[in-house]
Amino acid sequence: MNVSDDLKQIPARIEPMAASDLAQVMEIDQTAFPSPWSTRAYEYELRYNEMAHYFVARLDPAALARAARGGLWQRLQRLWARPASAPAPPLVGYVGYWLMAGEAHISTIAVREEYRGRSLGELLLAFTLQDAARRSAHVATLEVRVSNLRAQQLYLKYDFEKVGMRKAYYSDNNEDAFIMTTPPLHSAAYQEKQRRLRTALVMRFQERAGKTASAARTHWQTH
Ligand SMILES: CC(C)(COP(=O)(O)OP(=O)(O)OC[C@H]1O[C@@H](n2cnc3c(N)ncnc32)[C@H](O)[C@@H]1OP(=O)(O)O)[C@@H](O)C(=O)NCCC(=O)NCCS
Repeated sequence: MNVSDDLKQIPARIEPMAASDLAQVMEIDQTAFPSPWSTRAYEYELRYNEMAHYFVARLDPAALARAARGGLWQRLQRLWARPASAPAPPLVGYVGYWLMAGEAHISTIAVREEYRGRSLGELLLAFTLQDAARRSAHVATLEVRVSNLRAQQLYLKYDFEKVGMRKAYYSDNNEDAFIMTTPPLHSAAYQEKQRRLRTALVMRFQERAGKTASAARTHWQTH
């Protein structure tokens, strides 16, 4: 996928994953994980697993200008609702979770390699926690490789705690997994913490959008 540098700074919108997304999901999966899932596994999740909730993040060039104009989390959420007729922009990440017995078990989360470190993983996680709470999950949990410090940092930022370990959980290299779990999703303190993190996240997107807009203005004024 070939995109310009300024497009890489823009927000993304989040939508339910569709079968038509799977080619791009597989592309990301294969570089993100040592043991990627098969297309068939994703097809099963989308078609038959009633506990499964999968979402993709797409680049949204139009959101750049709108985010630069202000408005916070709710505004970005409105932007994510794509008119049915608009073409689907490129997919930069995805997340999935299973809602089981009041627990949101995050089964996968990944960002396209060249877009990492731009807050998109955080955007997907923040969205997931909100979506799970809305569907009455009381906690979110996941397994993460003990060597995957980058992902662990992201989860720690959202107050996930290491509550246990699964020995030799990953069959490709027998690596152990930490089990990491959030505080109660609906607790006032955790809701407040998430709200603060989301505000900071959106401010970061807006700041980048503003910088891009001002760089574009300078470009037009000097050419
Ligand atoms: C884990 C992953 C989803 C994070 O996505 P990302 O878009 O790169 O992360 P973000 O830019 O949103 O960063 C959010 C937080 O993650 C942590 N983080 C991200 N990159 C990091 C790095 N290189 N080193 C340490 N921590 C890092 C930080 O806490 C960061 O918060 P900060 O910006 O306040 O420092 C992404 O690296 C990825 O797709 N990895 C491969 C798949 C994978 O390992 N998935 C997790 C399976 S459990």
